[in-house]
Amino acid sequence: MGQMLTILGLESSCDDTAAAVVRQADGAAPEILSSIVLGQTALHAPFGGVVPEIAARAHAEKIDLAVEQALAEAGVDLHDLDAIAVTAGPGLIGGVLAGVMCAKGLSAATGLPLIGVNHLAGHALTPRLTDGLEFPYLMLLASGGHCQFLRVDGVEDFTRLGGTIDDAPGEAFDKTAKLLALPQPGGPAVEREAEAGDPARFAFPRPLMDRPGCDMSFSGLKTALLRARDAILPEKGGITVQDRADLCASFQAAVRDVLARKARRAIAAAPEGLTALAVAGGVAANRSIRDALEQVAAEAGLPFVAPPLRLCTDNAAMIAWAGLERFRLGHADDMTLAARPRWPLDSQSPALVGSGKKGAKG
Ligand code: KG4
Ligand code: ZN
Repeated sequence: MGQMLTILGLESSCDDTAAAVVRQADGAAPEILSSIVLGQTALHAPFGGVVPEIAARAHAEKIDLAVEQALAEAGVDLHDLDAIAVTAGPGLIGGVLAGVMCAKGLSAATGLPLIGVNHLAGHALTPRLTDGLEFPYLMLLASGGHCQFLRVDGVEDFTRLGGTIDDAPGEAFDKTAKLLALPQPGGPAVEREAEAGDPARFAFPRPLMDRPGCDMSFSGLKTALLRARDAILPEKGGITVQDRADLCASFQAAVRDVLARKARRAIAAAPEGLTALAVAGGVAANRSIRDALEQVAAEAGLPFVAPPLRLCTDNAAMIAWAGLERFRLGHADDMTLAARPRWPLDSQSPALVGSGKKGAKG
């Protein structure tokens, strides 16, 4: 067995303050020794979305606590670590800065190497942490802040095949929930309502289907949903429980169809030899969307890999793991590591127009 590496990871790019310890002996399966996520949902709830200034302060206050807890739960101290990995972007800059400054402090105090990790690479490499997936594979990242198809050819080799040109799908679920007076986060609430609804009652748009490629658009869906809701109001003076269920089911079917059809195209656009279709992000929790993607993978003869939800959504184990993979390749940063609000994974592909609640990220 090769060299054993123990890496501390820090994540603070959106609304979760997270720290984790991941260990791997070269050639062996990695082990998540701890994964602490201190969420900020309650702080942002009154504002109906993530408030960057509040997020930044909460990260600055809690990041050292998250580190302490992660080390204690893993049963290691700083001297047992080989390196410190931290999300250096993309994301809300105040939060990213809090993480990067904390990691630099730890690195300066201990002399441990510092590794900057791209948050999206963290998500994209997670199937290797959970399932030992070999390159190349296709990854659909679908959350409240991201939406893109990536071909993953190596630890630092990503090709963006397409992505949303406006809202992320999780954001569309959240806005739909808001329009229908359902609680946040909207995804689980809309999915629950949809169970009793008729997905064929409202013919919501499936945007960009006629356009070649894998780009997607979800912002028109909420307008269509708003119109459908408002058309019912004068008729009945309000919407019934059944109307709401039908609106949710029809909306969910539209998102599912777009993701499934574009996934089919992404598979067709990737070269031979893909090992799997993998997903990450909160939207991957949706049963109907998951089933549709699993079906698409099966049609192409590919395994479908969906990491457990706690590793699909934002966490620091994925950052520790991506850092570990970079470190094994001999890559590390130094004190000049910068926090970056935008940091496209694939510098060759054209920029996204928008990408969700964390703002456009290149
Ligand atoms: O990955 P995540 O925890 O955070 C980031 O956005 O980075 O994803 C959260 C998003 C929210 O927009 C939430 O509404 C959506 O994922 N989501 C779902 C479901 N569970 C969470 N969307 C659809 N169906 C679900 N079951
Ligand atoms: Zn994320």
